[in-house]
Amino acid sequence: MKVLVINGPNLNMLGKRNPKIYGTRTLADIEADVAEYAKEKGILTEFFQSACEGEIVNKLNEAYGTVDGVVINAGAYTHYSYAIRDALEILEVPKIEVHLSDIHAREAFRDLSVIEEVCTLQIAGHGEKGYFMAIDEIAERSGK
Ligand code: DQA
Repeated sequence: MKVLVINGPNLNMLGKRNPKIYGTRTLADIEADVAEYAKEKGILTEFFQSACEGEIVNKLNEAYGTVDGVVINAGAYTHYSYAIRDALEILEVPKIEVHLSDIHAREAFRDLSVIEEVCTLQIAGHGEKGYFMAIDEIAERSGK
């Protein structure tokens, strides 16, 4: 079983970026722990981070038919990228939207997620734990 974990713009800056909101750990730290956690469940993980909307769309398109689930923190694209929304809609596997912070309890523009309706589930406000919760959700939903 394989899960693709995508992180969007500025998530490469975790550890430096507003630690009160996003925590002190780097994306590499989190990815290493998520990979280990998933491996214990028999799940292979692939990680992808990009600030470029088109690269994220391409990655999602390439994932068609090759992965059993997608975990995505689209960063600010969450709030306005219809291209990422449409790319997610095409995929016929569980898609879990993750946000470190509670997007519903911050600035008004963060309250709307345009990808929410095409994702299986939204997990927000649990910090890095959200990525682990997403792996659990995919494991449970895939039935493999
Ligand atoms: C985020 C929330 C977004 O509003 C923001 O633009 C991010 C990170 C989160 O993980 O809490 O880049 O997706």
